[in-house]
Amino acid sequence: MNGDLPGTQGGVVFKEVTKTYPDGTNAVDRLDLEIRSGGLVSLIGPSGCGKTTTLKMINRLEEPTSGTITVEGEDILLCDPVELRRRIGYVVQEISLFPHLTVAENISVVPSLLGWSAKKTRARVDELLSMAGLPPEKYRFRLPDQLSGGQKQRIGVLRALASDPKVILMDEPFGALDPISREVLQNELVSLQKNLKKTIVFVTHDMGEAIRISDRIVILRKGRVEQEGTAEDIRNSPKNDFVRSFIGEDRLSRMSPDDPAESIVEEPWGMSAPWESAADVLERMEENDREFIQVVDPKSGQWLGMALLGRVRRAASAGETVMKGIYRERKLYAGDATLRDAAEMLADRDISIPVVGEDERFLGVITSAALARLAVERLRSGREEGKQS
Ligand SMILES: Nc1ncnc2c1ncn2[C@@H]1O[C@H](COP(=O)(O)OP(=O)(O)OP(=O)(O)O)[C@@H](O)[C@H]1O
Ligand SMILES: [Mg+2]
Repeated sequence: MNGDLPGTQGGVVFKEVTKTYPDGTNAVDRLDLEIRSGGLVSLIGPSGCGKTTTLKMINRLEEPTSGTITVEGEDILLCDPVELRRRIGYVVQEISLFPHLTVAENISVVPSLLGWSAKKTRARVDELLSMAGLPPEKYRFRLPDQLSGGQKQRIGVLRALASDPKVILMDEPFGALDPISREVLQNELVSLQKNLKKTIVFVTHDMGEAIRISDRIVILRKGRVEQEGTAEDIRNSPKNDFVRSFIGEDRLSRMSPDDPAESIVEEPWGMSAPWESAADVLERMEENDREFIQVVDPKSGQWLGMALLGRVRRAASAGETVMKGIYRERKLYAGDATLRDAAEMLADRDISIPVVGEDERFLGVITSAALARLAVERLRSGREEGKQS
């Protein structure tokens, strides 16, 4: 950190900030918070604790009900909001790149608004693309459709950096990515930040992510700061059970391969009732880009099978119900199956595994994504334990 006097200049400072929405919801409650210049601070806390609201007040997408916020020493309520937003980078989870603009044009939105010359803008775009490991000659003219999810998110980050703002706000920017891409982007952000030294306010609900990327962590609860400090401060002396439940003590990192498989069961993306026509189900599967769907009796909750895309297609052309397309051989029994069984089955064929209980009652599915998350979580906790000892 760069020795700015706290509260007098630099960074982002909240003083007694309250935000009450028109319906009476108290989203942020007399919040005092100081984010020093050049730091990367994560705001973390349960859903609804006010993270997004806090962030949006910094670029005046929401106005505080009372209190003051300064950015780089300036009271933001005295700034023109549009001009303020151009000075602050903003990245959200579902970044919306303009679909009809190229990568280069997307990145240059703010520089264009600021009236940069074409030459300066182009040089900046190329510099940013290279920094993010995307060769400019290859990516400059691509359209967003021609990018992977991780690449789109990267372009979103570059767009926020384009005009070289001092402050960047990020609201769960990597939340929608798979665990592997997420970790890659987190690492990239950390190495970018080493050189750029922006003031970054990063909202997340993933403590692992917060620990990996930030200098300081602010745990929010009901619109107020519950605890604040470095990851180590918080880990060494969590203030209370609420904080404890947020740090390292997660269930996932302590699991073993012999643990019951149902511990990572999730809701399937969708289900079908047995009497639905294969044609309707097919449409749903295609819309969602899925190769299988669980068929469950809505009354008894009994699992009847998993319908596979090819079979559903054939059943649809024959005018049959979805039941013609099901497959029943691949499933796990709760209480019996372990995580190892699930991993072996997924390694064999990478489609969700249905998990059933007594009387074939459907409990949910195990996906390779859930298993990958678990693996990443375990690796990470192993690494962190290693670091500490
Ligand atoms: N426009 C709005 N009008 C009324 N209430 C709102 C509005 N936006 C948010 N809220 C409420 O304010 C509270 C804080 O919301 P906020 O979006 O800041 O939470 P969050 O910490 O970002 O949650 P999440 O982790 O789910 O994104 C919640 O109770 C939410 O329902
Ligand atoms: Mg939010």
